[in-house]
Amino acid sequence: MNDAKVIPMTINGRHRGVSASPNETLLESLRGLAYFEVKSGCEKGDCGACAVLVDGEAVDSCLTLTWTVEGASITTVSGLGSVDAPHPLQKAFIDRGAAQCGYCTPGLIIAAQSMLDNDTRDPDEDDIRVALSGNLCRCTGYTKVFDAVSEAARIMREAGESS
Ligand code: FES
Ligand code: FES
Repeated sequence: MNDAKVIPMTINGRHRGVSASPNETLLESLRGLAYFEVKSGCEKGDCGACAVLVDGEAVDSCLTLTWTVEGASITTVSGLGSVDAPHPLQKAFIDRGAAQCGYCTPGLIIAAQSMLDNDTRDPDEDDIRVALSGNLCRCTGYTKVFDAVSEAARIMREAGESS
């Protein structure tokens, strides 16, 4: 790893120094640190499987160089909730059967969270379609995904949550 340097960042609330070479992507760095919930799909920005939040905005980690996120706060889908305390989006994906093979699911949930945080907390179907347009799913046909995001948004509004 020639020319590697340590890039400080926060990942899921934990301060870390990530050793990375200049051309290393955030996807490579995160998976190298065993954040395997960040999925590697096309590795060229087409599928959205690798999406994470960087300072609250969804980005494709395969298109993001690790050196460019120095000092940033990174959130993977595991940073949103856990098995014991799932985030409303995670729970809704389960309840609505919106995950089949599940490979796309982390990226879809990250994209949905970014929409709810940054664009609208009361999305209609068009809002959800636009927000998830960069995320490909080969299994679900999307209908249950849209239902899950809509349900989670409603539950979060009713709970008065912002995230
Ligand atoms: S793996 Fe990053 S967009 Fe497909
Ligand atoms: S659930 Fe299989 S790719 Fe989306």
